Amino acid sequence: MAEFTVTPWEVKGEVDYDKLIKQFGVEKINDANLNAIKKHAGEVHFMLRRKVFFCHRDLNWLLSEYEKGNKFYIYTGRAPSGNVHIGHLLPWVFTKWLQDKFGAELLFQFPDEEKFLFKEGLTFDDTSHYLQENMLDVIALGFDPKKTKFLVDTRHASTMYREACKVAKRITVSTVKSSFGLSDQSNLGEVFYTAMQAVPAFLPSVLAGKNIPCLIPHAIDQDPHFRITRDVLPKLGYYKPASIQCMFLPPLTGSSGKMSASDETTAIYTTDAPEVAAKKINKYAFSGGQATIEEHRKNGGNPDIDVSFQWLRMMFEPDDKKLQKIYDDYKSGAMLTGELKQILIEKMMMFLKEHQRKREQAKNKSEKFMFKQ
Ligand code: TRP
Repeated sequence: MAEFTVTPWEVKGEVDYDKLIKQFGVEKINDANLNAIKKHAGEVHFMLRRKVFFCHRDLNWLLSEYEKGNKFYIYTGRAPSGNVHIGHLLPWVFTKWLQDKFGAELLFQFPDEEKFLFKEGLTFDDTSHYLQENMLDVIALGFDPKKTKFLVDTRHASTMYREACKVAKRITVSTVKSSFGLSDQSNLGEVFYTAMQAVPAFLPSVLAGKNIPCLIPHAIDQDPHFRITRDVLPKLGYYKPASIQCMFLPPLTGSSGKMSASDETTAIYTTDAPEVAAKKINKYAFSGGQATIEEHRKNGGNPDIDVSFQWLRMMFEPDDKKLQKIYDDYKSGAMLTGELKQILIEKMMMFLKEHQRKREQAKNKSEKFMFKQ
């Protein structure tokens, strides 16, 4: 059986998502969930329809509270440690949709100590630099500045630290070791860190003096943090946060694992020139096509393993009819790999141009989004 590992700090091998659902104890998203979302949002985002967001915790509870007028806020985050790539954007694009459809406040955490603690050689100067850069990417996606607050761990420590200590007091070292694969050789900061990631899941309740439901959209690798958070928060008198999990956008070079931020060939960065992105797709995107055109015309390609198709399905082609046609044409052999890549390239170049324009406009706007303590 193929081996794979998914922890917040390591994703390795071919991820078996059904197995993960069992391992982590999350629930698969079903039609009833989709209908409940549709009832309030008026539509179902394509990432939900296509099960890119594929599982959840307590979504039913969250929506039934919403129905009663008990509105939720959204919490997600990004540890600044490198340049943002397209895979990072996927859950944030969905988060923006949630904010728009549910009129929800968003708390966006930048745990700028996380990767300092976990990555050899990364300094606080590095994380400060990436923090500034990464904030531009988040702002560029168009989050509502009136409803979005950035929480930066080292900057907002005086608000966060007390709350983190309350969480840390309820977690044993042995729980952290088994949940994250840490060991006696792990440093102290690594062991404590999960307490900081728990804080935004209840901080608004602390500040408001009353419990407010929380929804956390995130990639599935972050779930171990929130499993612990959910165990602890009721003991402190707060709601368990609800959550909704997405799969990883596959790396350009193949369908397994997740995109690595440090490998130029597997990722397209938000700051890549559109022409560079086009070249990367042409050169590296793993193809489900046949070895020769003759063979491809005769036997057809395999869209299910083709990375260009998967990127269209998961992120760049919201239109179901268009996507289906691409699927059918590629599978029948009517569409060649070069043509499929060209469809993605056009979408990607358009997206990058627009994103980079908005990213430029985002400069000097970060303070407007900053949480005020
Ligand atoms: N640990 C996440 C990372 O490595 C950052 C993060 C903090 C986060 N809080 C979150 C991600 C909440 C999703 C949801 O980037």
